[in-house]
Amino acid sequence: MKVVEKNGGDLHIICKRPVDVQIGDFLIIWDGLGRSSLIVQVIEETYLNVEGALLEAIREEVLEADVRVDEEASSFTSLSNTVRDLILLRCKIRGSIKSGFYMQSMEHLPSRVSSRVEPIPVDRLLETIHPPSSRLIYLGKAGQQSPFNIPLESLDGALTIITGKKGSGKSHLAKLLIKELIQNYAKVVVFDINDEYKGIGYRRDGTPSPICNRVLRLEPSKNLRFTLEYIGKKGISDILCHALDLPATSLREFLRIWDELADYGRLTLTDLIETISSRRGNEHVKEALLSRLLTLASSNLITEDQDLASTFEDLFSKIDVGGALIIALNRCSPILRRIMVEFILSKLTHLLELGKISPCFLFAEEAHLYLRETYWEDIITRMRHVGLFTTLITNQPDAIKDCVFRQVDNIFIFNFSSEKDLEAIARVSMIDGDTLKAIVKYIPPRYCLAVGRLTGNLPILFNCAEADMLTYGETKLFFPTLCLKQKSSTEI
Ligand SMILES: Nc1ncnc2c1ncn2[C@@H]1O[C@H](COP(=O)(O)OP(=O)(O)O)[C@@H](O)[C@H]1O
Ligand SMILES: [Mg+2]
Repeated sequence: MKVVEKNGGDLHIICKRPVDVQIGDFLIIWDGLGRSSLIVQVIEETYLNVEGALLEAIREEVLEADVRVDEEASSFTSLSNTVRDLILLRCKIRGSIKSGFYMQSMEHLPSRVSSRVEPIPVDRLLETIHPPSSRLIYLGKAGQQSPFNIPLESLDGALTIITGKKGSGKSHLAKLLIKELIQNYAKVVVFDINDEYKGIGYRRDGTPSPICNRVLRLEPSKNLRFTLEYIGKKGISDILCHALDLPATSLREFLRIWDELADYGRLTLTDLIETISSRRGNEHVKEALLSRLLTLASSNLITEDQDLASTFEDLFSKIDVGGALIIALNRCSPILRRIMVEFILSKLTHLLELGKISPCFLFAEEAHLYLRETYWEDIITRMRHVGLFTTLITNQPDAIKDCVFRQVDNIFIFNFSSEKDLEAIARVSMIDGDTLKAIVKYIPPRYCLAVGRLTGNLPILFNCAEADMLTYGETKLFFPTLCLKQKSSTEI
């Protein structure tokens, strides 16, 4: 391999067939003078257009081959064929390694004559980036079968996004991360839209794994209900305003009634509804309040029976040594989903502020379905500040606001074929558009490009590991047997 040209942030390298590198692989360029070594990433393989100064480099590259050049015509044809078949690798300059440490800058241009180019495995590269960690987790294989491990600390205090088209492996990766977090004593809350996270505590063969009793599946209005007192004034205001769109004037009236009933010690949903119904005043306000409270009552989320009611303090104490609260939102109506999510976020933030629960991780599947737009900024600023570290999982990156993307610490991108989605990510994420389009557009399912704190900002392509758990992610099909038949006939 020989360096032939630099073009802005790109470095062009030629090499002979068979090529031992793939798109996404990293190359190290040794200077031979004991200075820093350049790190580049292959983003495109193409044919070579032979021109002027390239010829010298080509001659060298070709002559290094085991091709005997003599006066014989056959050798000449062989040489000419080798030249025509040379491959040009378009690479992005990523940084340099000096004295064993990686830096995101290029100190000097490597020599075209004396520098040596070789592939560098991702695990060796990451060793120069991350400080030694005892919490390395294995996520799959990167490049030429090098293990891809990330320090779990890179998720701590971070905002992470997992995106890609449907069926590409997003939820699978989220499950891998959650399992590792639990095994490392972290507490995780999951907004589970498809009821697919309950299998995290089971092995693939269906037997319980050691974390089984630390994965709690909670179904709103069934085994997840709260007293009105626990929801509190702040929680109910957030639900009424943000999930049920109550206008501000009606909310003020509601809070007055709330205070009166609290003084009499009669704070129940039934009392609230009765008091509002019997009270004289603006009919529009009354109507607005009653319709919301009746919705809340019919959701069955609120109970007056302490024995049936949960508290997050209690739930968190059950996963004290690490565990997950899986909030199963699959059977909830869209309105109950919004109520639940609004309340949980409001309550967790409050409890974290009071120091009543310890920092935790939140995994939100398809968050655009239930989070109001104005909430996004709040999630990443206030929640992160108090200790709620969010991972958003979505197949609609354009539903995530730019201001959120700009503050992302880590991003996992699975396959996307739509230009619109790629552009949405390229516009705001930490990966340049060139790399994104070159790599992400053609990656097969289960491959993923990771970038951010977890990779020292290097975009790393990896094949996501299988998981020894019940994943429940399969899409139900109408013609499953046909698919099976096709599969077995291709296997024959
Ligand atoms: N790396 C992987 N190894 C094994 N199975 C996988 C892997 N990634 C995804 N799957 C399987 O592929 C299917 C779709 O993956 P899923 O994560 O649900 O996709 P998405 O959430 O992007 O729609 C699921 O059945 C899942 O278990
Ligand atoms: Mg999914």
